[in-house]
This record gives sequence, C-alpha cells and structure tokens, in this order.
Amino acid sequence: MNAIKLLKEDHSELRKYFGQYKAADSDSKKHKLFKQIKEKLDVHTHIEEVIFYPAIKGHKELKDITLEGIEEHHVGDVLVREISNLTEESEKFDPKMDVLIESTEHHLMEEEGKMFPKVEEYFDEKTLEELGREMAEEEKKFTKSKQASA
Ligand SMILES: [Fe+2]
Ligand SMILES: [Fe+2]
Repeated sequence: MNAIKLLKEDHSELRKYFGQYKAADSDSKKHKLFKQIKEKLDVHTHIEEVIFYPAIKGHKELKDITLEGIEEHHVGDVLVREISNLTEESEKFDPKMDVLIESTEHHLMEEEGKMFPKVEEYFDEKTLEELGREMAEEEKKFTKSKQASA
C-alpha cells in the first residue's frame, strides 16, 4: 500500500476515536477510548519515526517539518504517559485528554497539509509503495512484540 494512504487511514481512525471520545457520556467510555487512542497513537508514531520520517528527512525541503513532527510526537507521548498514570477519578483526566486531542489534531493537520503533499511531490510512486510495505510490516512486528510483553 502507498505510504501516504496508509498513514492517512491511521489518521482517520484516530479522528474517529477523537469524535467518539468527545461524544462519550460516561467516564468508563472515556477511559476505554483513551486506551484505543493510546494503542493507535503508539503504533502510528512508531512506524512514522522508524521508517517514514528517516526516509524523508534527508530531503532539504522536508527536514524542518520532520524535526517538528518528532517534537509533536514527543508532546503526545508525554501526555499519554501522564494520563496512563492518573487515578481513575483524577480531575486532570479530562483536561489532559482535551490537550492530547487538540495537539494531535493539529499534528495530523500539519502532516496532511504540509508534509505529505511535499512527500508526494518529491518521491515516486514506487518508493512510496515500498515505504508503505515496510510500515505495514513494522506495524505487525510492533503489535506482536507489545502483545508478547503485555
Ligand atoms: Fe505523526
Ligand atoms: Fe501521522
């Protein structure tokens, strides 16, 4: 599968969870959605950081936005870890989730609006297919190793 298509599909899945979270009417639904968001974000940022970003970062037009993307992943990571460590009834859960969702929505928009169009301009279809294949494979490996360590 084409790398951009694969990543955009992940983005739609994340946006679907965000929408469900915003509409959730109970704490238990929100906590369940947090787990789904966490899992998807973990694997998505992983395949971007080990395969996609390193492959595009060498292009001078893509370097800055890729470095910014890594920092945005880091912010998301910190928030996810902090939310994971909160007690079930913590008053910080909702505000931290709101910030996580807002900052991730911003990040997805930057990738789709600024990064991906340039990638499609500078890399040919064959390279994008190959990157997509590598990411799909890495996703499987990552999910398997997480299940094994769970
Ligand atoms: Fe990303
Ligand atoms: Fe992404």
